[in-house]
Amino acid sequence: MKKGRKVLLIVGGGIAAYKCLELIRRLRESGISVTAVMTNAAKEFVTPLSVSVLAGSEARSSLFELGEEAKFGHIELSRSADLIVVAPATADIMAKIAGGHADDLASTVLLATDKPVLLAPAMNVRMWEHASTRRNFATLKEDGIRFVGPVDGEMACGEFGPGRMSEPAEILAAILQFFESGPLAGVHAVVTSGTTREPIDPIRYLANRSSGRQGAAIAEALAAQGADVSFVTGPAAAETPNGVRTIQVETALEMRDAVFHALPAEVAVFAAAVADWRVRNPSASKIKKDGGTGPRLEFAENPDILAEVAQLQADRPRLVVGFAAETGDLIDNAVKKRKRKGCDWILANDVSPGTGVMGGCRNEITLISERGTETWPEMSKRDVAERLAMRIAAQFGDH
Ligand code: C5P
Repeated sequence: MKKGRKVLLIVGGGIAAYKCLELIRRLRESGISVTAVMTNAAKEFVTPLSVSVLAGSEARSSLFELGEEAKFGHIELSRSADLIVVAPATADIMAKIAGGHADDLASTVLLATDKPVLLAPAMNVRMWEHASTRRNFATLKEDGIRFVGPVDGEMACGEFGPGRMSEPAEILAAILQFFESGPLAGVHAVVTSGTTREPIDPIRYLANRSSGRQGAAIAEALAAQGADVSFVTGPAAAETPNGVRTIQVETALEMRDAVFHALPAEVAVFAAAVADWRVRNPSASKIKKDGGTGPRLEFAENPDILAEVAQLQADRPRLVVGFAAETGDLIDNAVKKRKRKGCDWILANDVSPGTGVMGGCRNEITLISERGTETWPEMSKRDVAERLAMRIAAQFGDH
């Protein structure tokens, strides 16, 4: 593991909070530095003094303590660690994160962070099984939050079942696995996917046949290599990938905003089939038939998100990958496209109707880079994604 890894540990208010002392000790023994934030409820279970002494720095809990805030603001706190761990993660904390609350330091840090988050839930079995906790758990997983536990066992309240916090050794193992998992650990990747919908009026829109399968598979394959993935997707038939942060958008302009908001990143893969045009003046109300020739739509060109990111002067991702979906002169057009847009790699594919690529599950790719062209055999979109993720990982092997 690389030296100097930092964990921000948020201690929630539950009886399992006493285990956080052991967790802090083990983290520090493993060479990981720990900054602790405690909720007010956590202070009822363990003292800030014990947590501070073991962590080697003062535990924070107040959002409004001027002295603390002046030394190190909560936004900085939320971004300064490589990983945020919440242990114990109570039902209340899970609900707060799922709902986007920010009414104390812990929830504010969790809302303000752009870093990966690992939760170790701990609560009574009925609370764990309650419909609202089930809902929150599903939402948090969809948001790319990682979990360790809870496990089955006897609880302090005398009941038995799922809800017991994982032991400190297991939480440490999950943290070490996170830091060591894959060649892209610590690399932030932005992936666009799906189609975009450009409104004509509140009911109708322009879109295309992209299923979002290739983009979703790429996001998941990058996450499997350890990358921290921001997945910016327009409407898509494909399922949301696992282990990524998903940002849903509709229009090309929203996609552009979401991508720039997610930056900086080391890798950016643009798999979305972005509409080239939007309707210049979409109608605010449903357009009615008038027995004539129908409405005359005027178009405005959408920004080319790939080209804008590839041509960034400051903070350009180290690797920018685009697609060239063509119906003729595949290689020639794709080589020109790579140059014109300024990206590093282009994955060219033939989307002529006969190929079944658009909306289908298979793809035939030619990778175009500065070094020339390389044609891959026809394979599933999942295999294309894994091959691409491996190529990206090889590029970042020494990051
Ligand atoms: O120019 P063309 O649409 O063929 O370029 C395809 C590539 O550019 C894809 O990688 C696509 O995601 C990206 N693109 C974009 N924004 C646009 C149009 C295309 O990011 N407005």
